[in-house]
Amino acid sequence: MSFPKNFLWGGATAANQYEGGWNEGGKGINTSDVMTAGSHTIPRRVTYKNVKTGETGSIIGFGPYAKFPENCIPAVIEGEYYPSHVATDFYHRYKEDIAYMGEMGFKTFRLSMNWARIFPHGDDSEPNEEGLKFYDKVFDECAKYGIEPLVTLSHYETPLHLAIQYGGWANRKCIDFFENYAKTVFKYYEEKVKYWLTFNEINCMEFAPFVAGGLLDPSPQNKAQAAHNQFVASAKAVKAAREINTEIKVGQMLAYQPIYPYTCDPYDQLLAMEIAQNTFFYADVQTGGHYPAYRLKKYEREGIVLNTESDDFELLEKYSADFLSFSCYGSTTVSTHEDVNKSSGNLIMGIKNPYLETNAWGWATDPACLRIALNTLYNRYHKPLWIVENGIGWDDKKEEDGSVHDTYRIEYLRKNIKSMRDAVNIDGVDLMGYTMWGCIDLVSAGTGEMKKRYGFVYVDRDDRGNGTLERSRKDSFYWYKKVIETNGEDLD
Ligand code: BG6
Repeated sequence: MSFPKNFLWGGATAANQYEGGWNEGGKGINTSDVMTAGSHTIPRRVTYKNVKTGETGSIIGFGPYAKFPENCIPAVIEGEYYPSHVATDFYHRYKEDIAYMGEMGFKTFRLSMNWARIFPHGDDSEPNEEGLKFYDKVFDECAKYGIEPLVTLSHYETPLHLAIQYGGWANRKCIDFFENYAKTVFKYYEEKVKYWLTFNEINCMEFAPFVAGGLLDPSPQNKAQAAHNQFVASAKAVKAAREINTEIKVGQMLAYQPIYPYTCDPYDQLLAMEIAQNTFFYADVQTGGHYPAYRLKKYEREGIVLNTESDDFELLEKYSADFLSFSCYGSTTVSTHEDVNKSSGNLIMGIKNPYLETNAWGWATDPACLRIALNTLYNRYHKPLWIVENGIGWDDKKEEDGSVHDTYRIEYLRKNIKSMRDAVNIDGVDLMGYTMWGCIDLVSAGTGEMKKRYGFVYVDRDDRGNGTLERSRKDSFYWYKKVIETNGEDLD
């Protein structure tokens, strides 16, 4: 019971939560740079300025209804705390961090490229050379340890100028800007990066349109159009990659969680099916190559009319994703019945599942869910899969001697990796790799907190930005090293 010989073990991060250096090296501002910190109970906010009166304010940022008042544009406001600005400082500490990854034996490292570091406004005609050089050094460092980079082109990091000037991804012009960005970096790093992802959790457009698409007005029409534009942009990225070098593989990235009906009431099955379709839709188009009938009917019912061009659908079909990657932290349980308790989770709320335990943020941990997810997605799309996010957020405590005894994390990962191993060995799923989320502690996307930690390596920083940023290995660091060494055979 182990994994294929070339299985890509590693960890995952995102620039907006990890990199920092927000105004260094010629980088422009992106959408996450105007998001404040929140907590489990206080939502993250996007700050704005009224261009007519100069007044400032904020709206809830990580949610489906982030709409800005008239004449107001997202902006960095003095005196506010923005966790992305320093994050956990990969920008200055990449050598140290990649050395930790090398020590654990990583075969791959998933990071995102900060689009605004390469094209500060998003629509610039020439790239920022200093930004290109930064990632070049990062990839060289990875190569020293035999680590294959897996790069997300856009992980909640739309250049802010595109949001303000064009209304974000609802505007078709973003397709061209993204295509130019993708072509530039595919060519520049042709010899160094083989695996790319287009949009992190592309289905996040449903739940957080400002975060996922820089939308200032999250109307159903705009969300549908923005998703369509991202699909076309993704297909154009696949096309560009194939023209530049057929060795380059461009994958989709989906937020996926199995949806369980709470009871055997057929109406609970129907509800679970409908909710699952909200996610499948995004993979049906980007990986499957077609708009599914259930979504077209929904658009028809809601009076949504997409602005398309004649070759859009041919592009989607011909240049669907080479592989399907996804995040999966647990499952969601849903019901039509009203006498049930609510619970939270990654992106969608569900019902408390009595068979599952939850972490301090209410996310259910579900050991079986990776096997279920892998089977569902493989048998629906028949393309190689890659788990690019899985893990558990915990308020870890560092001891005086720098150690962190995160037995709960080891326990969670042990069960999840076993479930994934069963999907490969028992069910024959074609799985390329596994990158544990937040391998070095970073800022939480959902809450903006530091205390919701995921890493194998602890970073000394708190929720208000205090701390030395010093790194120290947690117990899970040594455990994961052994897992990689034995190619997943020894999970004890
Ligand atoms: C995924 C995102 O939704 O979940 C990551 O791709 C995020 O950016 C991760 O950090 C965990 O969520 P959170 O809210 O705990 O940071």
